Amino acid sequence: MDVVKFIVFCGLFSMISGIEPISAIGAIGTAVVAGIYTVFTPIKCHFHECCTSNWINLNTTVLREDLQRRLYGQHLVSNVVIKYLKSHMTKEPSRALALSFHGGTGTGKNYVSKIIAESIYRNGMRSKYVHLISATKEYPHKDMVPLYKDKLRELVENSVKECAQSLFIFDEIDKMPPGIIDTLKPYLDYYEQLAGVDYRNAMFLFLSNTAGEEITKHTLTKWQSESLREDIGLNEMERIISKATINTKTSGMYHSDLIIKHLITAYVPFLPMERKHIRQCIKDFLVAKNYYKRQDISEDAVRKISEELNYHPADLEVYSVTGCKRVPEKVDYIMEDYQE
Ligand SMILES: *[C@@H]1O[C@H](CO)[C@@H](O)[C@H](O)[C@H]1NC(C)=O
Repeated sequence: MDVVKFIVFCGLFSMISGIEPISAIGAIGTAVVAGIYTVFTPIKCHFHECCTSNWINLNTTVLREDLQRRLYGQHLVSNVVIKYLKSHMTKEPSRALALSFHGGTGTGKNYVSKIIAESIYRNGMRSKYVHLISATKEYPHKDMVPLYKDKLRELVENSVKECAQSLFIFDEIDKMPPGIIDTLKPYLDYYEQLAGVDYRNAMFLFLSNTAGEEITKHTLTKWQSESLREDIGLNEMERIISKATINTKTSGMYHSDLIIKHLITAYVPFLPMERKHIRQCIKDFLVAKNYYKRQDISEDAVRKISEELNYHPADLEVYSVTGCKRVPEKVDYIMEDYQE
């Protein structure tokens, strides 16, 4: 019955408008779909993630608090990250944000990426606008670089087309086969548009161990001269990283000319972690895993767990070789004994 009415209506519409009947059905159908879409999109976006400020919005307070509360011994990280994210997200950016995180294993690079995602996207790392690309997992074969390049280009283009404020996190970029990262160059540049798409609101995080050794060396020199770790400035570290990355000819990132073209917005140094920072990580895990309430933590357990980790340099044993990375397994291992 309703179908008949609809067809009659389309017939009338076509006579009045002079459009042939089949096109009339198409036109009305399109209008109806568009109408439904207009009415239901806000409702849909109420329940499902959309590329709207309701779902994507930097909360600087949350970012600052999380960095302060959950990250240890990284006084240089918070300021840089907050400063650049804030200006990128509140002003019209002149190009995509590209932050390059440098530091040894377990110093908090992944952790900070996660905190960033959580402070911008309501769904955090699970957001469909956050893309984690692990170099070792996704680009294992050197001879497949052309294919990887195509896939990466496709990922970036489709993602940014869908949502301008997309976040791309490249983990272990130093282990990426050389050449792949060059693909990103046009998207990081000052172009207003590339084939009709504006990439300037996108965000890229590059995580690597590149310059990790140089950062440790410099931090140790400061430690030996008994100056405060907190007195290490960003400029001196940036110079060290910049020099080290240019000299690292084998690394996936810096083999490319990204750096030479100054397409990296800022370098973010992650310093090696001292025993006192490791103790803070251990306490967090003990509480997170319900071994203790914070006020009841056994200092003896903390000491035993921290002794399970290795420290370097060999003669001084100042910094944890693996940062906080192996803390969870060591906590479980030592706490086996404590629970009997
Ligand atoms: C940021 O988050 C905090 C805590 O969730 C909230 O109280 C505050 O209103 C938020 N600020 C903005 C600008 O959204």
